[in-house]
Amino acid sequence: MKNEIKIFSPATVANVACGFDVLGFCLDTIGDEMVVRKTQEKGIRITKIEGYNLPYEAKKNVAGVSALAMYNDLQPDCGFEIEIYKKIKPGSGIGSSSASAAGSVFGMNELLGKPLDKTKLTYYAMKGEALASQCEHADNLAPAIFGGFTLVKSACPLHVLELPTPSDLYATLIHPQIEIKTSESRALLPKDISLQKAITQWANVGSLVHGLHTSNYELIKDALNDVVIEPYRKQLIPYFDNVKSAVLEVGALGCAISGSGPSIFALSKSEATAKTVQKAMYNTYSKTDIQFETYVSKINTEGIKIL
Ligand code: HSE
Repeated sequence: MKNEIKIFSPATVANVACGFDVLGFCLDTIGDEMVVRKTQEKGIRITKIEGYNLPYEAKKNVAGVSALAMYNDLQPDCGFEIEIYKKIKPGSGIGSSSASAAGSVFGMNELLGKPLDKTKLTYYAMKGEALASQCEHADNLAPAIFGGFTLVKSACPLHVLELPTPSDLYATLIHPQIEIKTSESRALLPKDISLQKAITQWANVGSLVHGLHTSNYELIKDALNDVVIEPYRKQLIPYFDNVKSAVLEVGALGCAISGSGPSIFALSKSEATAKTVQKAMYNTYSKTDIQFETYVSKINTEGIKIL
């Protein structure tokens, strides 16, 4: 059995417009790299962090917290060292903390001969994610660990459904270089919503799921609308409405806030349209004084993987 493993832990888009805290999908071109190593010395140690300034103390680092939760339950006859090569900016809205939380438990599981299934790995990763967002939710973790589109049917007990990915679906993202803390953008949300909004939202979630199952791009387009969360959170994202109208005009199926923002994602039918959408995002933000990055990504159906 191996003593060391290098992994790619992908960025993810949570919520997918209408599916707040339940829907998510996995990205292909953006993600962190991590090395997990078995040690004779017991315990969990984070020995290297490159890319961003994050805590080394295991119980203060999301990768360390998820690793400790799994370690304390399994009580293996060894310890683990974790190196984190962070490429996903914390607070970007594309699952930075989830990539770290998922990476450590995935790596440990591989080195221990895979005693745990993907649901159990997601369960332990949720313990780390909770450190970043102050609540246990799995809508970024599930797509990172399972790949493709996922729906978290229930967080407690954890039940993840894997949804199909239509083959022509591509994502485009813009990441304005401002930071939005998930905990703060959750604090903005209302505790109650109207029955009319709830009806619209669950009709959209059901339609989106059906659209994914039947590769019905027109239905996916109709369903990619969020009447519950977006009206509150979009105020935190400069030029959100300008980006959305620009990308819909050039053929995106839909556009919404990625996770808790500030990243904005669009879905398109074909890579060519996704690239046109990228230009529209670029042109909109070039006129502002905010730094930004844009990406085009196929939906990553594999999820977290060994390099
Ligand atoms: N569903 C979460 C939210 C994702 O939107 O707050 C971000 O962690």
